[in-house]
Amino acid sequence: ATADPANGAKIFQKCAACHTDTKGGANGVGPNLWGVVGEAIGQGAGGFAFSDALKSKGGAWDFDSLDKWLTSPRKFADGTKMTFAGLSAGKDRADVIAYLNQQSDA
Ligand code: HEM
Repeated sequence: ATADPANGAKIFQKCAACHTDTKGGANGVGPNLWGVVGEAIGQGAGGFAFSDALKSKGGAWDFDSLDKWLTSPRKFADGTKMTFAGLSAGKDRADVIAYLNQQSDA
């Protein structure tokens, strides 16, 4: 099935406790996620204090790395400060990634 960004917007309510997703949105417990798809991992969101685990991960956020991250943040980056268990359903991950891909100028 094709990823459904409208459903992803609903899934994102689980993330919104810690993240904004709009252009220029504030950092909070987690970094602002505007434009995160395609960005370097753990470097963006102007001034956000990422964990060493995420800062030193390397690479960029694409579908594959986001899918792994959202399956288990702790397995993807041991020592991360994103205290979120993850999304167990692959469809939920695909939908929220499709949604985040739209929250961008690109
Ligand atoms: C980091 C997505 C839920 C707190 C991140 C990053 C992404 C992300 C993509 C990395 C940003 C970057 O490298 O620029 C999501 C999504 C969520 C979610 C899609 C829901 C499915 C949460 C929740 C919390 C949270 C519920 C708080 C309880 C954080 C924190 C970081 C982070 C603290 C920084 C991690 C570190 O520096 O190790 N998130 N997040 N996130 N998120 Fe989330």
